[in-house]
Amino acid sequence: MATLSNKRILVGVTGGIAAYKAADLIRRLRERGAEVRVVMTQAASRFITPLTLQAISGHPVHSEFLDTGAETAMGHIELARWADLVLVAPAGADFLARLAQGRADDLLATLCLATKSPVAVAPAMNQQMWANASTQNNLISLKKRGVTFWGPDSGSQACGETGPGRMLEPAELAEHAAALFQTGSLDGLQIMVTAGPTWEPIDPVRGLSNRSSGKMGYAVAQAAMEAGAQVILVSGPTTLVDPDRIQTLRVATAQQMHDTVHTHIHPIDIFIGVAAVADYRPIQTAARKIKKSDASLSLELVPNPDILASVAALDPAPYTVGFAAETNDLEAHARKKLEAKKLDLIAANPVGDRHSGFESDLNQLTLIDQHSLTPLPLQTKSRLARELISEIAQRYHEKNTTQNTRPAHRQ
Ligand code: C5P
Repeated sequence: MATLSNKRILVGVTGGIAAYKAADLIRRLRERGAEVRVVMTQAASRFITPLTLQAISGHPVHSEFLDTGAETAMGHIELARWADLVLVAPAGADFLARLAQGRADDLLATLCLATKSPVAVAPAMNQQMWANASTQNNLISLKKRGVTFWGPDSGSQACGETGPGRMLEPAELAEHAAALFQTGSLDGLQIMVTAGPTWEPIDPVRGLSNRSSGKMGYAVAQAAMEAGAQVILVSGPTTLVDPDRIQTLRVATAQQMHDTVHTHIHPIDIFIGVAAVADYRPIQTAARKIKKSDASLSLELVPNPDILASVAALDPAPYTVGFAAETNDLEAHARKKLEAKKLDLIAANPVGDRHSGFESDLNQLTLIDQHSLTPLPLQTKSRLARELISEIAQRYHEKNTTQNTRPAHRQ
């Protein structure tokens, strides 16, 4: 378990039903060795008492600028300086709006303005409020300003609805906090991930593509970054925002993805191909929109380069991981790809199942290499990505220890 020894975390609690989980969060941060201080908004103290959080954090809880006691012991500027991390959990829609506006009309908002340390928020709200364009605009503008978002998760909500808006579980938040400071299992390594679909234009308005939201690839890139790696994400067209602390290179066609990958491949230690690359492209792209007629229309297609196989064929090659989305005979097909493309590892996932794959937030994988078969059960893509990264890290280090050398291309 990654530790938080010597770390000072300021936990901000805003009003919302998830506020009761702040107690568990504080306990888990302290278990990992962090010193925790708590700031509550007025609304938060209607959901959980300051006394509870004082007992669990071991310090008086701050809520007003002019607290007698807590605030005289430590003013807001000192608190802002004291924190290595400000973690607002839960962060309701109203708080995100106030943070986006840069307001300083209560202690917590002021601290977020006054600190030089990272500010992370764990949103928690009704799924419709989360989806609302105002909240999403606030999200984009806060992310641009360096605020880190942990969650929200998707699932059943206190209001009886289902969707994105659940606060991440306290254990997951504590893990994110530890990952923020921790040099992890991929410390110092350079990793490239491809994600999303590719788009092969037929004419200016039509094209061939594959079903892929990019969620799995982005989650893998994020997990690799949290594990200490420097990550390059080569992404086809997706609606996802560029993840923090990851160099994201946007492409459209398979050929562009291939060329971008090879331009940046040189120092890469581990390559993970998650993208759903179109196997074929039209031999030519019409300069103008093709007009509809009653006659049948044939498109001549030519094969695209296999990006993954081309990386695995490099000499020296990075540790190369592929994905295999299969509707049937998962293991046999995946094993064939492992061998045909000369991969170190393949992550096979069943598609066509309504619970996992494509646009779903859930997925499951079976990891197959020369020697082993490891099933990773159905779970959120972000958790699954973390498990995948830890399995990859283990195998990568084993391979390099066995060869008793650093990867050849890094010598
Ligand atoms: O052969 P298939 O497309 O099923 O293999 C899937 C794996 O190969 C994925 O990891 C995908 O990212 C990669 N791939 C690629 N370039 C292609 C086709 C697939 O990198 N042209």
